[in-house]
Amino acid sequence: MTSEIIAADPTLHYSTDEHAPDDWQSETTSLASAIYRGLVENGRRYQTLRPNGSHVPSDDQMFETYEASHLLALIMDLEEENPFFRSPVGKDPKHILDIGTGTGSWAIDVADLFPNATVRGVDLFPPPVSWIPPNCLLEVDDILQPWTWRDEFDLVHLRLLDSAFTPVETDHLYKQCYDHIKSGGWIEQLEMSSFIECDDDSVPEDSLLWSWGPRFTLVADKAGKPLGIMRTFRESIEKAGFEDIHTKEYKWPIGAWPKDKGYKEAGAVNFQHWLSGMEGYGMWLLTKFGDPVPWTKEEVQVYVAKMRKELSNPRFHAYHRARRIWARKPLHGVDITAEPSS
Ligand SMILES: C[S@@+](CC[C@H](N)C(=O)[O-])C[C@H]1O[C@@H](n2cnc3c(N)ncnc32)[C@H](O)[C@@H]1O
Repeated sequence: MTSEIIAADPTLHYSTDEHAPDDWQSETTSLASAIYRGLVENGRRYQTLRPNGSHVPSDDQMFETYEASHLLALIMDLEEENPFFRSPVGKDPKHILDIGTGTGSWAIDVADLFPNATVRGVDLFPPPVSWIPPNCLLEVDDILQPWTWRDEFDLVHLRLLDSAFTPVETDHLYKQCYDHIKSGGWIEQLEMSSFIECDDDSVPEDSLLWSWGPRFTLVADKAGKPLGIMRTFRESIEKAGFEDIHTKEYKWPIGAWPKDKGYKEAGAVNFQHWLSGMEGYGMWLLTKFGDPVPWTKEEVQVYVAKMRKELSNPRFHAYHRARRIWARKPLHGVDITAEPSS
């Protein structure tokens, strides 16, 4: 795994070794700018570091979506002293990793919260940052490559990675997490369902909203990157060898329809999350694997526009589920359940 570290400007760092040959530097520089350019298709920009690595764009509209989901996750845990994670890592963790960091906001906020920790965020595309705390390192890399960090992590965090990996890649990723988390350290993951639900029949049976989850399950399966991580990630974490597994369930409202002030605020933010995110989540999958035949860009845009219109209906009390799981790597050689000897 060769990491590119993002500077605050944001420009990819390359060697400042004055003896390095010029052609090496220019190769590295053009590699960096090629990474920033990405691949533009159907009006959206995609990462180019890993071929078929992510079917979700890495562009301003998607970053806006990630900012909304970051805020949403925080609002839904505002009653917690630490709304960023539940893992009991103590007051002085040293090494934290955020996989698929997107805008890097989680890594940056956690670095602010734990100034003595080194917090790394890794993504296939450079996060759109202009300033990061000195103890935060945002790296452009493919997390499926062998990890070369020397320090073991107190905590590895993953969020909103549904359909990012094939089943084989998923197993490989959790194994890497296990191998690089210190004994007694934690893994934590927050995921959301793409299936829209409603408890009071306010969303009519013929509403397009019901089609979103099943449609994307179908096309993501065709793409070989299954959707539905909510059903599987507990098992994957357990299979990798983690124990002491905890779960927290959420209902994330879409729209400001709930009476409760906190949920209303969450719903308003989630509404923006869906509005700005649907095209990006759908464009690549539907234009490549759309059912029964690949869709055109315009067909995707019309579908998304209709979804937006329905979601804007204040009478529809729509929500989707989310789940947080945190689990510990066994403490080798120490039985923490044993009574202290007197
Ligand atoms: C839906 S976004 C979630 C971003 C962030 N975790 C958050 O919650 O805001 C998924 C991210 O995973 C990244 N990703 C997908 N495959 C990856 C890989 N092999 N290595 C590193 N990042 C990856 C994508 O580039 C994208 O930014």
